[in-house]
Amino acid sequence: MPHTVLITDPVDPVCTDMLENKGFEVDLLLEYDEETLREHVSSANGWIVRSGTTVTAELIELADNLEVIGRAGVGVDNIDLDAATRKGVLVCNAPDGNTISTAEHTTAMMQALARTIPQANRSLLSGKWERKKFSGSELHSKTLGIVGVGKVGRAVAERMQGFGMKLLGFDPLVSEEVAARHDIELVDLDTLIENSDFITIHTPMNEETRGLLGTEAFERCKDGVRVVNCARGGIVDEMALLDALKAGKVAGAALDVYSKEPPPEELTELIQHPNVVATPHIAATTGAAQEKVAQQITEQVINGLMGEPVMTP
Ligand code: MLT
Repeated sequence: MPHTVLITDPVDPVCTDMLENKGFEVDLLLEYDEETLREHVSSANGWIVRSGTTVTAELIELADNLEVIGRAGVGVDNIDLDAATRKGVLVCNAPDGNTISTAEHTTAMMQALARTIPQANRSLLSGKWERKKFSGSELHSKTLGIVGVGKVGRAVAERMQGFGMKLLGFDPLVSEEVAARHDIELVDLDTLIENSDFITIHTPMNEETRGLLGTEAFERCKDGVRVVNCARGGIVDEMALLDALKAGKVAGAALDVYSKEPPPEELTELIQHPNVVATPHIAATTGAAQEKVAQQITEQVINGLMGEPVMTP
């Protein structure tokens, strides 16, 4: 019996090609109800997802043939890792295939914020010519606070240096020497929050980072700070952010990710706030990133199913 690999989110076709070339059966299930998903999960040996599928403990429990779950992307916060460990199922990810795309989207969001590009575009499309209304802010000489100095944080730093920004970084897992090699001054979170003109988030989502930027943090921020989150929804407390935008403490926010996706009704006021630039979790959605990520995760899943070592997150 060939091994079956279930795919429940859109992944670059290179994934299917690689699996089939190695003799695996591919079960591509992009639209399903819960019952159908349970049936397919129970017969799968491998399972590949992006962020659209929530891999719950309940699903893992009934997946008696499952050996490996591959996350075609970085964040594994949509997979119940404890349940996978209990069941002896390997979990692997594609750690760097989308670093460049995510960093590029972050820098685009920062520029869109600084120059109110989406707002100016909407105004022009509505027939107005409002040159005075859209007076922007230069990035040059401003301080960028990078929360999370991992792969994406460093790639953002490299790019924003070209704009002449001063870089502060906070990351308990990174040494001052490593940060300095990327021209980032490593500081504690309070110092970063109090001194940054722009703050960008690049940490994973976990219990330590949930609500990391909340009411208290916003109170300590510089007046007119701008915030970018292309990492995970919920690291920036969305209701606290809305309050800070309404109070004028935060001058603008650019969001690609939300605590629930797609964002529910209660996030509409935030997303539609005039100083918010919002995109639908597309930072990693480029042809290049998706191909690299699909290749990486398929290699990992094949290794896992063939008893070879895999890179765990
Ligand atoms: C990731 O974690 O890799 C990104 O958020 C992209 C995605 O969810 O596919």
